[in-house]
Amino acid sequence: MKIEGPRVVRRRGGKVASSITSGLMFLGAALYGACSSDPVGQTPDASVDAAASDAGKDATKTSLCIDGKPSPYPTDTKIDLFATMPPLEFPKLGGGTYALASKFEPCAPRSKILLFRTTAAFCGTCLWSQNHTADVIPKGLEDRVELVDLVVSDKNNVLVQTSDDLARVEAELGPHAATVAADPAYRFQSVGLGDRRLPFFVLVDSRTMLVRRFVPDPEPETLDSMVRREVAMLDGNVPPPFADVKYVDEFFPTNHFDMLKEMTLPGAPPKDPTNAVADSPLAAALGKDIFSDTRLAPNGAVACATCHAQDKGFADAKARAVGVAEGDRNSPSILYASHSRFQFWDGRADTLWLQATGPFENPIEVGSNRLFVAHKIYALYKDRYEAIFPTSPLPPLNDGARFPANGKPGDAAWDAMAPADQAAVNQVFVRVAKVLEAFERTLSAKGNQLDRYVGGDFSALTEDQKQGLHIFFTAGCAQCHYGPRLTDDAFHNIRFPTGRRDGKPDLGASVGLAQLFTHEFRKPEYADGAFQSVFLPKDMKELEGAFRTPQLRGMTATAPYGHGGNLATLDDVAKHYGLAGLEEGDPRTIGKSEPWVPNFVDEHRRELVPLLELFKGELVVP
Ligand code: HEC
Ligand code: HEC
Repeated sequence: MKIEGPRVVRRRGGKVASSITSGLMFLGAALYGACSSDPVGQTPDASVDAAASDAGKDATKTSLCIDGKPSPYPTDTKIDLFATMPPLEFPKLGGGTYALASKFEPCAPRSKILLFRTTAAFCGTCLWSQNHTADVIPKGLEDRVELVDLVVSDKNNVLVQTSDDLARVEAELGPHAATVAADPAYRFQSVGLGDRRLPFFVLVDSRTMLVRRFVPDPEPETLDSMVRREVAMLDGNVPPPFADVKYVDEFFPTNHFDMLKEMTLPGAPPKDPTNAVADSPLAAALGKDIFSDTRLAPNGAVACATCHAQDKGFADAKARAVGVAEGDRNSPSILYASHSRFQFWDGRADTLWLQATGPFENPIEVGSNRLFVAHKIYALYKDRYEAIFPTSPLPPLNDGARFPANGKPGDAAWDAMAPADQAAVNQVFVRVAKVLEAFERTLSAKGNQLDRYVGGDFSALTEDQKQGLHIFFTAGCAQCHYGPRLTDDAFHNIRFPTGRRDGKPDLGASVGLAQLFTHEFRKPEYADGAFQSVFLPKDMKELEGAFRTPQLRGMTATAPYGHGGNLATLDDVAKHYGLAGLEEGDPRTIGKSEPWVPNFVDEHRRELVPLLELFKGELVVP
């Protein structure tokens, strides 16, 4: 069964129904079966407060401190709202474990709030929260609140299992709580029912170990109020009212507006130390010509530009790519691909030049081979090539006895060549790819309405577009789609349908990322500097069915969507998300949907559609 997600409510008359209100609205509905009134303008649901304080009272009634002595840890436990936490243990940063049992203080004169923040290094909303760690514990309550970061996964969304993993991820996470522990199973997810967006806060009372509240991705003021109110209630005091949330443009809470500001156009791509000509204008100019030169294909009909056409946003507007033949995946745009940590839907290359060696020899794409490419460079571009690589002139490719017309490893002609000549051709092939990268690095898009809005022109967006962004945040899209290109560059399973012509599910990154390490050219002799270090899970099955989050900048031009290209419109994508992916058991996909993948009521998906206009990327091609 699918659980219906949070109701995300439209702003009217200068008030936004906050994400916390929505979370509680949903919760109220789940607990009491009543979700009737329009909550716009209300403070967070009072009935839940009542329930929480009742739970607190019950707990004090059945005190776990008898005659001044602590009772044993309760045995009737489960991970749920208003239930007693089981005595969980988590591996800790720095070694050892964080054990809930050691925090149980039934005879303490006053309760402590154990404030758990489930977080992940891939996740944009989490990183915002991590960067504001200093403000999470309300001022003046430092001795009453213990913040614990529970980390699910790293920046690529590889699960964090051990203390050693935590040590590796610490820097990716940024500022963090004094206690950081690993929780790859996201054990608090059952508290959130349908709304399990990260960062996910859970408040536990140390005297009873009762789960008192939860809140996903809260506005800072709401979190602060919530903690203050819990402390007051636990002390038997009247809780202070919720503080007003500060809205920018009377619409976006500060956490989301901060994230919006980062959704502005990307600057120059990060340096690629593995490619010495990455930023050479001569290389970029040659790369531009090669990119659309069909003469490098033996059939004379396919070039990179066939599937990455400038007039189609550097994609092809097809469901699945068609070169020499039809493939199994959708062609992504190459706009801003130069900023990605990984290439391809499955991450099987991690530099643009490594990527570019693939299509040439792919029999259904360009259908060429490295010897053919090298000969064409010799015949068509020798001078320009040698101007870019003055210390590495082309080998004597005109010597047909040494350099046959066609060939790649596995072909008889290639395998009969002298190893030194093979090595020379490999270098030419790799350098052609590096030249293509130089071109791809020059592509960018013009600023649009979104850039004007975040630059301070609040008239740049329509109310519907702002509402779309509001849903984008409150439905949890910004966990994975954030920053200048609206992507985390990480791998996720959200059960999009396969594009494979045989109908089988596409295994995605569990195969692709593993191939990265056996890539023929991912070796020091081809690289001008060090490759990034990539940490893979022990069991690659973890990444089965996971794909790299595509950027949404420029997505207007890249429909149809998804790795299989079978979601025609943004509305179809939103519908897919509304259901949290294809049902388990559907043969068109594999693996489990991640618990933080949004699911939301269908009526909100249409409100996402105005975003299409906002994520337009009018191309700038030098
Ligand atoms: C037949 C169509 C086709 C041709 C020709 C083609 N590509 Fe692609 N390109 C694709 C498809 C499909 C993918 C995604 C494949 C995958 O992920 O398995 C892709 C992926 C890419 C990516 C990765 C983008 C990303 O965000 O993952 C880049 C960069 C790229 N191609 C550049 C090139 C270059 C350079 C050439 C020419 C050497 C080229 N492509 C030729 C179809 C094509
Ligand atoms: C858990 C991370 C995650 C979340 C949350 C998420 N996405 Fe995605 N998004 C992805 C990944 C991964 C893909 C590619 C999936 C595939 O093809 O298998 C994707 C694909 C897309 C695409 C298709 C883009 C293209 O070029 O094909 C769109 C549009 C999109 N997401 C929008 C959204 C919206 C809107 C939301 C919120 C309702 C959202 N995403 C939430 C990770 C995420």
